[in-house]
Amino acid sequence: MCGIIGRVGDGNAIEPLLTGLENLEYRGYDSAGIAVQNGSGIAVEKRSGKVDELKASIDGNATSLDGEVGIGHTRWSTHGPPTDENAHPHTDGTTDVAVVHNGIIENYAELKAELAEYGHEFTSDTDTEVIPHLIQFYLDEGMTNEAAFRKAIDELEGSYAVTAMLSGEDVLYAARQGSPLVVGIEDGEYFLASDVPAFLEYTDSVVYLEDGDVVIVDDDGVEFTDRSGEPVVREPETVDWDPGQAAKGEYDHFMMKEINEQPTALAQALEGRIDPDSGRIALSDFEPGTFEDVESVQFVACGTSYHAALYGSLTLKQAGVQSAALLANEYSVSAPPIDENTLVIAVTQSGETADTLNALRHAADQGAMTVTVTNVVGSTAAREADEALFIRAGPEIGVAATKTFSSQAVMLSLLGQRIAADQFGEVPSDLDSLLPDLESMPESIESILETTSARSIAERYEGSQSYFFIGRGLGFPVALEGALKFKEITYEHAEGFASGELKHGPLALVTPDTPVFAVFTGEEDEKTLKNAEEAQTRGAPVVAICPDGHRAVDVADAHLEIPETDADLAGLLANVQLQLVSYYAADLLDRPIDKPRNLAKSVTVE
Ligand code: F6R
Repeated sequence: MCGIIGRVGDGNAIEPLLTGLENLEYRGYDSAGIAVQNGSGIAVEKRSGKVDELKASIDGNATSLDGEVGIGHTRWSTHGPPTDENAHPHTDGTTDVAVVHNGIIENYAELKAELAEYGHEFTSDTDTEVIPHLIQFYLDEGMTNEAAFRKAIDELEGSYAVTAMLSGEDVLYAARQGSPLVVGIEDGEYFLASDVPAFLEYTDSVVYLEDGDVVIVDDDGVEFTDRSGEPVVREPETVDWDPGQAAKGEYDHFMMKEINEQPTALAQALEGRIDPDSGRIALSDFEPGTFEDVESVQFVACGTSYHAALYGSLTLKQAGVQSAALLANEYSVSAPPIDENTLVIAVTQSGETADTLNALRHAADQGAMTVTVTNVVGSTAAREADEALFIRAGPEIGVAATKTFSSQAVMLSLLGQRIAADQFGEVPSDLDSLLPDLESMPESIESILETTSARSIAERYEGSQSYFFIGRGLGFPVALEGALKFKEITYEHAEGFASGELKHGPLALVTPDTPVFAVFTGEEDEKTLKNAEEAQTRGAPVVAICPDGHRAVDVADAHLEIPETDADLAGLLANVQLQLVSYYAADLLDRPIDKPRNLAKSVTVE
């Protein structure tokens, strides 16, 4: 959460800064601001609200924001409400120092109190504001700009990606500790950002910084050092995301674009991972035998990624491997026993979720082997885990995860097969039936996208009191995910249940005003249908998500069709229909679909 951008180069910095902020808005959109080195000091423009509102205020304000070097920030509030005062960049009250920050400064209250004793006055509720004051404090002691920045950073405890600008020089200073920060490099133009899409329009050459790195960027280039000032080598990598992937194109919302990208995303995920000759899984991401000593598997993840993890854990159990999916934010208090034969798989789209990273670190400390399944090369999870499996879904901008869920679930089922094969020395027998259906997943999703009746279902049940989602086995994580997506973007009440649980309590909530979406995967469907009928008898309309010709179609009040497929994959097709229902329901309510209130794409605090 929170997006940082910094830019050094020729020509006016405003456009690349604002473009960067727009591209980073998925990280937070409570407030936005920029600061530019304008020759006579640092000029700041910031305000609560979205980047569009900042742009409007800059357009109507021919101030002094002309300059070649600047920083910008889009905020997801942690300390203090989303007000103009709390928006970044923060200064020390002068035009000498401006700072943008992502993360949490844990000792900010102590630092603030100490600085106040020296006469420093604070105007915001944020933890960030102590940083420019600290820098100014050391400048006042006679330190150079670089020394003052380094000394200030040394005082900070917590997690941060910080970029600072000091007046009188076209230089940016930045440091990373626990929050993501990348450098973009183009001929004579340099960027600092929380994430690559910030500057994809300008360059695809990227350096991923490590914790403890301090960088100094000026017209001549980037100096990479450690905290003590010793040079460190950081090689640029070329990213193969094209800028068009990060733009909305013909779609009204990124979410719809990303739902439609699922066939391509899955084809990319599978590319080269199934051996065409043997028709076997060839996850060459891992050395042969990598998992032969694994005795149990624990998945850790949050939110939608947790639902994918639940899916992965169930497929692994079916393949005969002991496994459990655990909420990453509960892991430190509820982790089952861990030893060197435990494999812990952190499932995280962004690779930056603090809860998940903490669980990963806890597992590594206990001696577990760690793997992350992530979308972001160079993310913290990818760098910290022993092994990384990339889902290759391309940038996901909509806050509600869609294509990454499908890709995660599919990659987890491949990984599960691979773990089972390493453990038992042979591939599980049902793989032969799964592989052809896996390879035809992109086509099956295409057919759903072309024929879906999700919009009319959303219209039919608009204004209901609550929306329930039920499923059994692999249909259960899909029911949970269907409900999460629905509540997240419509702001309507929605809940997901294991089908068999309805009668143990939730049935009391069921009325003619609570549509029940029932997911049929081919696994004990008769029981799920019975549970759906129990709700229907109490007046609830039932929407069956199943292939045409399924018995549930005759019983249900409405039907969302999925193609026939393996029971391991049917839930993922049902999930696409549920994504579409949520999208259309939110659209009917005119919700800000890509940026639901109070949420951020990447949650880097606990
Ligand atoms: C919901 C959603 C979130 C994320 C969760 C974990 O649509 O996207 O629930 O799944 O915040 O994020 P990652 O996968 O980046 O660790």
